[in-house]
Amino acid sequence: MVAILGMTKDQIFEAVREMYSAVATDPSRQFHFPTGRDACLFVGYPEQLIDALPPTAVESFAGVGFPFRAGIVGPGDRVLDIGSGSGTDTLIAASLVGAEGRVYGLDMTGAMLNKLRRNALIAKAENVEAIEGNAEAIPLPDASVDVACLSGVLHEAADPQAVVREVHRVLRPGGKVLAVVPAKYSIDWWRPGAGPVWSGSPLRSKTACPPITRFSARRLRKLFSGFEVRRIHKRQLSRREIPLLLRAIPRAWLERLLGKCLILKAFKPIGSAVPQLSSRKRAAA
Ligand SMILES: C[S@@+](CC[C@H](N)C(=O)[O-])C[C@H]1O[C@@H](n2cnc3c(N)ncnc32)[C@H](O)[C@@H]1O
Repeated sequence: MVAILGMTKDQIFEAVREMYSAVATDPSRQFHFPTGRDACLFVGYPEQLIDALPPTAVESFAGVGFPFRAGIVGPGDRVLDIGSGSGTDTLIAASLVGAEGRVYGLDMTGAMLNKLRRNALIAKAENVEAIEGNAEAIPLPDASVDVACLSGVLHEAADPQAVVREVHRVLRPGGKVLAVVPAKYSIDWWRPGAGPVWSGSPLRSKTACPPITRFSARRLRKLFSGFEVRRIHKRQLSRREIPLLLRAIPRAWLERLLGKCLILKAFKPIGSAVPQLSSRKRAAA
């Protein structure tokens, strides 16, 4: 969630890293987006799931939605959690895949990865491996994972298409991808003068909010055109954000129209080739 307009790719990368280092090392600070346990609950994580995790993982959570509602992670899976942060999603995935599975937590922010390693030890999650790297050049072999999870990371990538290309390369044919991004046409879009992605939320921060990329379902579908897109759901709308006039309408309906995040579920088609461009980029990196 950094200023993307008018910045070079390297500047975006550095700004993201700097910001998330602060979320890792100083989680009680107020950011222009919600963090920690309240943020988890606000974006839809079940309380029981959160309370089973080390508090030091949850305190630096900064995601935009609950990815596991789609139910695509199962026992024995090799999962790649891109933008793992301090480990909230990585550790949930680790419990879903069990001892036979493996979860790679990829992040470019050293402070977050250090925290993830500590949290995996606390949670006794021996099936977790923290990997440092950029999602645009994933340090894993072709076709090496069953599921890729991109929760709260694509919207701040300097080149989201490069990230998706890399996801396509590392997924095995038939492998699944789950992406959670801020929705463009959310309740904030309709609210006159709305700026920050979280404006109107009970967790609104007092700090300035630079622009971020928000996705329409159409744009997300286009980004994942090399995949078989199964579903794009719009989710996440708290009752207190709904204008009084609309409160008689069931919240689930409004969520589909005005929800704040999009959750994409897609598959890598069987028989699809590994894109060559990303391999060249990896060699150059
Ligand atoms: C919003 S947090 C994701 C929340 C996380 N899923 C959780 O469970 O707390 C975004 C994370 O993605 C990382 N990140 C952002 N851009 C990245 C990139 N291009 N490559 C790798 N990691 C990236 C940041 O360092 C940060 O830790």
